[in-house]
Formats: sequence, structure tokens, C-alpha cells
Amino acid sequence: MTNPAEHAIAVDRLTKRYGSLLAVDGVSFTVRKGEVFSFLGPNGAGKTTTVEIIVTIRKPTSGSVRVLGMDVTKKKYGIVPRIGVLPQSFNSYDRLTVRETLQYYSRLFSCRNPDIDGLIDLVNLKDKAGEYYKNLSGGLRQRLGIAIALVNNPEVVFLDEPTTGLDPRARREVWDVLQGLKQKGKTVFLTTHYMEEAELLADTVAIISKGKLIAMGSPRELIESNANYLALTLQVADDTAFGALSKMGFAPVRTPPNTLTVRVKDANEVQKILASLKDAGTPLLGLDVRKPNLEEVFLKLTGEAPRESPAAERTTT
Ligand SMILES: Nc1ncnc2c1ncn2[C@@H]1O[C@H](COP(=O)(O)OP(=O)(O)OP(=O)(O)O)[C@@H](O)[C@H]1O
Ligand SMILES: [Mg+2]
Repeated sequence: MTNPAEHAIAVDRLTKRYGSLLAVDGVSFTVRKGEVFSFLGPNGAGKTTTVEIIVTIRKPTSGSVRVLGMDVTKKKYGIVPRIGVLPQSFNSYDRLTVRETLQYYSRLFSCRNPDIDGLIDLVNLKDKAGEYYKNLSGGLRQRLGIAIALVNNPEVVFLDEPTTGLDPRARREVWDVLQGLKQKGKTVFLTTHYMEEAELLADTVAIISKGKLIAMGSPRELIESNANYLALTLQVADDTAFGALSKMGFAPVRTPPNTLTVRVKDANEVQKILASLKDAGTPLLGLDVRKPNLEEVFLKLTGEAPRESPAAERTTT
């Protein structure tokens, strides 16, 4: 158990109902100060709804949520100046430059002595400081969005799918920015569909499905407790290996062309398989042994593939 004073966020038996839909169903978790907490879940799982309640935009149906020790339903004006938010599907003003955008938001939020140059540096937009928003690529826009979320120098930063739709290089550039935030001691609440992102950045991962929290822990803990096996992939010349593996009691999965994957307990089993394939005179063209990753855990626990999110339509608060 962690000390409540160390909690940036404490969510207790939170529910949110939209008419007959229970979008968030008794969710409880805590986020430690200074950690990167990653919220994962299939489309419609209730991630954005939960974030919107934590950042005081929406009211919970029941349960309690505290941010930096303050109740979100009672202390909105105490909380808002101390948090920063990059909403899902963020957008800004086409005809403002990067610098003007940050100046605009810092005035809007009445920030005292905003360090605009420092922010531009932090998100690596120095070369683009004079560029109009409308001319920025998706990755640059997301980095500007993160800078906007930081204009008030918040202690807790909420980023709702900051890398969705970005190409792999742009995504990695956002990851660099997030690592920089962590080094500065910010608490980061990161919603994402990318398991690789959560595995790389998060201290704690929480998986939500159909409004319920179904797993929580460090990426390593989740992998070790939910996927305690090795994946052995064999490149084979013909179908004899399939028969040999089946005879040994394994359930190989065929992926064309000529690839077989089996789940094994440990390295000893890998050795046994290789020895018996050799004895049977089965030619092997290649092999790969891999520990399971967070994506496999996610698929197992949610029964769904992680995927891109269309912007959810919002009609009520
Ligand atoms: N304002 C609203 N009115 C009615 N239903 C809503 C509203 N906002 C969200 N919902 C519904 O609540 C459920 C949870 O939505 P939410 O946006 O929180 O999911 P999410 O996990 O963020 O999904 P995504 O990965 O697609 O962003 C969905 O079924 C959604 O359609
Ligand atoms: Mg969402």
C-alpha cells in the first residue's frame, strides 16, 4: 500500500452512467506522484469518460475521485490550475503560429511568467516556432498540444491518445517528450491504444474493458502474471515439423508461408523440441524465441485487438 500523500490521483468505486449505458462501472485505482500511468482499453471501454471526470469536465454518477488530495466535485478551482490536459482529438487555431498559440493559451489560463521558449524547446518545436498551426504535420500538432497542456506548469498531465494516427517516427518523437516530462518529475496519465508505448513508458498500466478495471500493475508484472510462456517460431521447409510437434503434445499454429509458432514453458522445452526435430530429420530454416509482450496480455484479458480510435461523438455532459 502506498501512502495517500503520495497519490496524485485516487479513484474509488467510480461509476458513470449515460442513460441506460454504464460507461464506467466501479473503477478504483491510485496514481503515484511522479509516475507515468498508462490507461489501456478497447474502443468504448470508458477511458476518456474516466479522464474527463478526473479532470473535472464531467460529473461522476457515484464514487469518489481525488486529485492532489482534492475532491473533483468540490474543488474544481483548486485542481484545474495544477493539472494540464491534452484532449483526445485535439485541435487549435489555424492562423496562429506555434509561439502565438502558446502565448494565447498562457493568457487564457492567466499563467504567471509562462516560459514559452522553454516549452517550445521541451517539445522540440524550435524550428517551427513561427509556423502556422494549419501548416503543421500531425506529429508536430500533437507536440504543440502537449506544450499547451504544460503552459501552466502543471503537476499532473493528462494525455488522451497523444500518438494515435501518427507515423512511427512522429510517435517516437512524442515518446521522447513524454520521457522528458517524467524526468522533470511530472505525473503523467497517458491513455493509449499502443501497447509498445505503454510497455516502454509506463510505470503502471491499468487495463479497462466495458467500464471495468480488469488488470493493473507494472508492464513486467502484468506480463509475468498473465503470459508465463515463451513463443517459439520456426521457419520450416515442409509440413513434417507440424506433425512432429503435434505428436509431442504441442499445438502449433501455422502462418503462411511455412512458419509455425508454439507456446512453450521454458528454454528446456525449446531444446527438447529442437533435438526431436533434428532426430526426425526435419530441416529448419530459421527460429526465433520471444517472451510475450503487453499486447498479448491485452488480447488475452480483453479478448479484443487494440486498434485505432475514431473520435467518439459526445452529446451530453
Ligand atoms: N457524452 C456521451 N453520451 C452518451 N454516451 C457516451 C458519451 N460519451 C461516451 N459515451 C459512451 O460511453 C462509452 C465509453 O466511452 P469513452 O469515450 O469513455 O471510451 P474510450 O475508452 O475513451 O474509447 P476510445 O478508445 O474510442 O476513445 C462508449 O460506449 C461511448 O459511446
Ligand atoms: Mg477515448
